[in-house]
Amino acid sequence: MRNWQSTYRHKLISAQQALQFVQSGDRVVLANACSEPPALVQALVARAPELSNVEIVQVVNVGPAEYAKPGMEHSFRSNGIFLLGAPVRKAVEEGRASYTPCFFSELPRLFRQRILPVDVVLMQVTPPDEEGYCSYGLSADYTQSAAESAKIVIAQMNRNLPRTAGVRIHLDALTWIVEQDAPLVEFAAPSFGEVERQIGEHIALLVPDGATLQLGIGAIPEAALLSLKNKRDLGIHTEMFSDGVAALAEAGVITNRRKTINQGKFVATFLMGSSTLYNFVHNNPAVEMHPVDYVNDPCIIGQHDDMISINSALQVDLSGQVNAEMIGHLQFSGTGGQVDFVRGASRSNGGKSIIAMPSTAARGSISRICRQLDEGAAVTTSRNDVHYVITEYGIANLRGKTLQQRAEALIEIAHPAFRASLINKLSVACP
Ligand code: COA
Repeated sequence: MRNWQSTYRHKLISAQQALQFVQSGDRVVLANACSEPPALVQALVARAPELSNVEIVQVVNVGPAEYAKPGMEHSFRSNGIFLLGAPVRKAVEEGRASYTPCFFSELPRLFRQRILPVDVVLMQVTPPDEEGYCSYGLSADYTQSAAESAKIVIAQMNRNLPRTAGVRIHLDALTWIVEQDAPLVEFAAPSFGEVERQIGEHIALLVPDGATLQLGIGAIPEAALLSLKNKRDLGIHTEMFSDGVAALAEAGVITNRRKTINQGKFVATFLMGSSTLYNFVHNNPAVEMHPVDYVNDPCIIGQHDDMISINSALQVDLSGQVNAEMIGHLQFSGTGGQVDFVRGASRSNGGKSIIAMPSTAARGSISRICRQLDEGAAVTTSRNDVHYVITEYGIANLRGKTLQQRAEALIEIAHPAFRASLINKLSVACP
């Protein structure tokens, strides 16, 4: 065993001291989602009067993001890779922050190849194990690649962070350590209604026993999980998971026994949920967190037989183009791992990718199945990649279908109130 204790003591520092190393013009990468280190971010924000033009890069923001609030734009510019948090989304909308389109699987390459050179990384870790390795806890996605290419690596060591298996970081790789326990950000399981329940039942029809699943967070994945309670030996290889997966594992439905690779393991790159989830993953050797360039790599995903990806969308046009990130000109979320998993599932023997969404939005006033995407919208998943689209009205299988057949299949699962107008437009859309 190496004696790391003295190195450890030399690296201990207060958050205020550690954040003095950030300089104007630096690019600072924040660990993702629930692994964002609150003490370090607060100490960075406290330096706003003396800093200028510091770029802050993060994928999923769940913290208060004070650095993205009005009045901070001289000191900080947020560069979001996925806009989940309201403050960063608002800042992008108002031109005070930026959004960078990127497949989630490719973000580590942007850091490593210095396309986005990193100056400072702020992360959260568990205390070290006997060999001096810390766990990344709730997010393993891009932190390692950012740390490997950064000049300065600052870690908030939080004893409340679950110790997860998989990728770890040694104390030698940390420049400074700030010991500060903090409560974890928690998310309650979302409530859902009849529409999501029906969508969940349609999804279940496409999931065979022994399948490996990718699902996101939100009402539709939660409803899908509930509808899978009578399946057997499901496996998990997913960008992220939440409480619903832990519940199905406790119920014996998820065993990971029939996975083609990483048998017996839940594989994910980040986690978001309640303390129930965090207790489930803590010191659980069956839960492995790996970097996103492994977990979301379509070639890795595609090695699983019967890989089923379940993602959502804001609108789908009659040719099958999926917009999962823009409401008109508003960048609402991001590409995330949707395309990574759609492409991975399409490489898998027996694989299926599912885009599931309610048939309408805005309290029934807008059809999400539309003749063409709204002006300003982005194509997240292309019509060449799309496979199944599901609403509460059924399942449309678009693979190998002509434009005319796709339009007909999609109109069949549109809300009945919009079908006639979509049919009227069909002759224009598909001459
Ligand atoms: N036009 C106008 N508004 C729309 C709309 C449309 N076509 N579609 C949805 N909206 C509105 C909804 O009405 C809702 O507004 P409300 O909150 O006022 O009711 C809001 O937009 C959010 O829609 P909803 O469908 O509830 O979003 P969600 O939280 O289920 O998230 C995505 C759906 C597509 C944004 C989300 O899954 C996503 O970001 N996906 C991209 C990345 C991805 O798939 N990652 C997967 C790997 S984890």
